[in-house]
Order: sequence, then structure tokens, then C-alpha cells
Amino acid sequence: MRMPMGQVRSVVVLTGAGISAESGVPTFRGAGGLWRNFRAEDLATPEAFRRDPGLVWEWYNWRRSLIGGCQPNAAHRTLVDMESRLEEFTHITQNVDGLHGLAGSRNVVELHGNIWRLRCTAGCRAPWEDRAVPLAEMPPHCPSCGALARPDVVWFGEPLPGDALDRAFGAVRRCQVMLVIGTSALVHPAASLPLMALQRGAHVIEINPQPTPLSTVVAEAIREPAAVALPGWWSAWQAEGNRGKTVTDLG
Ligand code: OAD
Repeated sequence: MRMPMGQVRSVVVLTGAGISAESGVPTFRGAGGLWRNFRAEDLATPEAFRRDPGLVWEWYNWRRSLIGGCQPNAAHRTLVDMESRLEEFTHITQNVDGLHGLAGSRNVVELHGNIWRLRCTAGCRAPWEDRAVPLAEMPPHCPSCGALARPDVVWFGEPLPGDALDRAFGAVRRCQVMLVIGTSALVHPAASLPLMALQRGAHVIEINPQPTPLSTVVAEAIREPAAVALPGWWSAWQAEGNRGKTVTDLG
């Protein structure tokens, strides 16, 4: 597909754990990935939490302390710049680490929640932010009703937040260009988003040092780390866009 840059109005970005890898946050799969060393069934399911909330909270407390020592990298910062300059820009993330917000992104669709938010298991009030590392109370409880609190993240077997999902699919339906950055593209429904963009004729670009199931079907697969590839891609977009180049020319 050749699309004059001047005609690109609508851009969607989907990020996964790989975008935070260069900030020091472990990914889930691949070498050093969390799911290589921990069993998701023991730590990231509603059943695990019912069985042993203390153990699950220990794991989240550990991840919060690890992430709390990490800073956004050049890829996170590039997305902040894109948000401020592009006319219609939707930023969807599977990450719970909050690094997009810390970098300055203002409007991020968080499909899997956020590790810095807690919510009441009795559902008595809206989720609240607590950035304390370690948490003052383990396991933590709801300040309003005293029920057990849980991380405001999506666990395996749970539905994604409906409003986030609606926004994500709505934006993908309209987008002309989609960047898919640092995700193994294995976990649905997030992994369905680029497939839908492709079906609707969008120009889909993947940034990932490793091949994924998407790599052979996207228009471009840039095999570099995000903190290198994304700032370079964005500079080229800005520099060439005004001279009437096409998206394909930049590949
Ligand atoms: P994964 O750990 O499955 O995949 C991370 C991807 O990032 C891999 O494809 C790596 O090749 C790539 N990667 C590694 N370093 C990179 C770098 N510097 N730049 C760009 N890419 C890099 O993470 P996700 O796809 O995000 O769900 O995982 C999806 C979901 O599975 C997560 O949100 C989480 C997990 O279980 C929940 O917690 C619900």
C-alpha cells in the first residue's frame, strides 16, 4: 500500500512488554521472561488470589519495587511526542508498568490495567493509586470498607475492561497506520487488534528484534529494539512526510 504521508490522519500504536525492556522491566516470554521463572497459574489468576492472596501480593510487591526503580526510555518519550503532534492518535498498551504515563503520555488505553492501582475486592469504590514500595500493609485492604484489596490488573481468565476494549477496537477500525511495538502478539484480544487493522487495509508496522506471528503479514517488520527503532522511524516520518513521501518509502 502506498499512502501519501500528508493523507495519514489516524495512527494507532499498540505497545507490549518489549517497549519497557530497555528500561529494565522484564518481559513475560523469551529469555529472562517472567513466565520462564514463575507460573502464571500460581500468581496471575483469580483462583491463585483466592487460594493465597499473600503470595500473589508478594509477587506484585516485588514487581512494583522492580518497576519503581525503572525510568521511561527513548521509545516511551517518542510516543509522548507523537501524541502531541499527530491529529488522531490512539495509544493502546498491554503494559501495567505505568511507564507511558511517567514519560508524559496523557491518554493511554490500558488494556491490562495498571500495577500502581489497587481495587477493593468487594467493589465498594473506584480503584485508587498507591505508589508505595513496599506497600504499607501486606496484603493491603480497602481504606473504605476494610475488604481485601487486589491489584487493578487483568488476570488470566478475566475479561478486559469493556471501555478500554471498545476504545481500542474503535480506534483500530478507523486507523490508517498502526505501529505494533514490543509484543509477542500471542495474547488475545490485544493480539487481534493488528489483525483487524490489516483486514481493514491499514499500513501495519511491527517493531520487535524477534519475529512474531505478525512479522510475515505486516507491511514492515523493523527488527531493532524499540528505543532505537522508534525514535528513528518517527524522525523519518516527520522529515519525509512534508516532502510528499509515502509510508512505504520509509520502510
Ligand atoms: P511478551 O513478553 O509476550 O513479549 C515481549 C516482546 O517484546 C517479545 O516479542 C520480544 O521479542 C519483544 N522485545 C524484547 N525486547 C524488546 C525491545 N528492546 N524492543 C522491542 N521489542 C522487544 O510481552 P507482551 O506481548 O506484552 O498479560 O505480553 C502480552 C501479555 O502477556 C502481557 O500484557 C501479560 C502477559 O501475560 C497480562 O498480564 C494479562
